[in-house]
Amino acid sequence: MKLLAFIGVIAIVVAVAAGVYFFGGFYSVAATQEDPAVVKWALTNVRTASINRHAADAPPIPLDNPANIQAGARAYQTRGCWNCHGAPGVEWAKFSEGLQPDPPDLKDVVKDRRPNQLFWVVKNGINMTGMPSFGKVEVPDQEIWTIVAFLKKLPNVSEADYKTCTAT
Ligand code: HEC
Repeated sequence: MKLLAFIGVIAIVVAVAAGVYFFGGFYSVAATQEDPAVVKWALTNVRTASINRHAADAPPIPLDNPANIQAGARAYQTRGCWNCHGAPGVEWAKFSEGLQPDPPDLKDVVKDRRPNQLFWVVKNGINMTGMPSFGKVEVPDQEIWTIVAFLKKLPNVSEADYKTCTAT
């Protein structure tokens, strides 16, 4: 009984201390510092698990079709993805270096992602990061799938190819 009371008191003390720390303004929300390793680890794993559980759609269009890849390159350019992620021969906007977490260089990550995972992220965004939901601003699913086709091809897209695809 005594032990339970002791645990109860400790729990209350921890809750009050956490309340003072967070609501008293001691925790810093600045984007200038990297998250502590344990927070980063937790966020990465929660994100991956969430995307894996939610991403169920199978591609409704052939992703290796050149017309789809080209349409995706154009959408990637006009929807502004390059501002944060860059593109072949296109430097990301300077402000994106101020985002925390840092937007990844997509050509380094797409090999390890399935098309449905990419689709889900672009459609829904990633909460509490700079990654917007393009579904929320009514980009049609079909267009997002063309972006996925382009992303899967991205490691092999040359600067010249990208320029040709996106020239209007
Ligand atoms: C305002 C900046 C911004 C814009 C614009 C933006 N993104 Fe992102 N994106 C991010 C950030 C930041 C992350 C990393 C989130 C994280 O670490 O969890 C991200 C993550 C991603 C990921 C997941 C990468 C992974 O590791 O699995 C994909 C895919 C992606 N973005 C694609 C796109 C596409 C395609 C567009 C355009 C349609 C786009 N993004 C536009 C900031 C942006």
